[in-house]
Amino acid sequence: MGNLKEFSGYAGWWLGSKIDRDRPLVTTMMIHLNCNLRCRHCDIARQLDAGTLPPKNSLTYDEICEDLRTRYKQGARIAYFEGGEPTMWSDGERRLEDLITFAKSLGYLNTGYTTNGTGRICTASDTISVSLDGPRDVHDAIRQEGVFDTLMNNLASLEFDGSVFANMVVQKTNIDHIRETAEIVRQNPRMDGIVFNFITPPPADQALSPDERRRAVEEISALKDEGFPILNSRKGLRDLLVEDWTDSCPIDLTVFTLPDGSHAKGCPMRSNPESCRHCGFAAAREYRLVKRGDPRTILELAPTFALSGKKRGQRTV
Ligand SMILES: C[S@@+](CC[C@H](N)C(=O)[O-])C[C@H]1O[C@@H](n2cnc3c(N)ncnc32)[C@H](O)[C@@H]1O
Ligand code: SF4
Repeated sequence: MGNLKEFSGYAGWWLGSKIDRDRPLVTTMMIHLNCNLRCRHCDIARQLDAGTLPPKNSLTYDEICEDLRTRYKQGARIAYFEGGEPTMWSDGERRLEDLITFAKSLGYLNTGYTTNGTGRICTASDTISVSLDGPRDVHDAIRQEGVFDTLMNNLASLEFDGSVFANMVVQKTNIDHIRETAEIVRQNPRMDGIVFNFITPPPADQALSPDERRRAVEEISALKDEGFPILNSRKGLRDLLVEDWTDSCPIDLTVFTLPDGSHAKGCPMRSNPESCRHCGFAAAREYRLVKRGDPRTILELAPTFALSGKKRGQRTV
């Protein structure tokens, strides 16, 4: 029954998108910029350390609800919450779970958020994306001493029947640890798979060269062939080889609400042309393929990223 509702919801979205080419599918709310970590590859960490965050760097509960409502009316059916660290967000008594519950009450078909996994993991969503940047030493070198073990302990005690996937940002520090990271995910019964992204500058010092990109794509594709639970679609992986995404970004498919209340179509980093010239976001590739109606990609992505309900136990590995 749940799947029928979702199927008709997405079919309605797709039909509507034929008439209204600007119809968003995903709304991403960057609810605040606060964070307990200072990861090496993260520009928010740099801004937190430098004290250069914009003065308004957190959205209120009312602002978020209003935007979720507006975006739903425009057609969006997937709601994602990002930060900073979204699990640290609050407005009075309100927490991340209240935002997710509200989004679901509006009719969003899939909800999710990305977390560093060091705090209490919120289980109100359909999907949880946990950042995993390598095996223990590498992850901790990028993020902070002890973060890997905290994440793994939190996952071990997690009671949640939606999808949990790892999000790895491939950068110079961890490019030689792709297989090990995929193996950690394969061995962990709490994780359904892994999505690989490449670092998008700033910062530029960890950026991959074109040769490194090619090597990484070849390795990840080979792992997928071997049966590792790689969630990037095959075509999406191939498209990660194209570095300059300036004219390819499917900006209509997703709208970001930024912590200062402004909005950005496609990606919050579009204000920096350097970021688009060296884009490493897997989602930008997948969104473009979805927007084109690529059937194979849609079938590959839907179980984890679009459908809600119980998906645990689908992994056979
Ligand atoms: C900004 S974080 C917010 C969520 C949470 N704090 C976390 O670390 O998972 C969202 C994702 O963006 C990734 N990220 C941060 N800086 C990036 C960059 N320069 N290029 C690509 N991805 C980046 C993080 O590793 C994380 O997986
Ligand atoms: S935990 Fe997330 S938001 Fe915080 S510094 Fe690391 S990548 Fe950035």
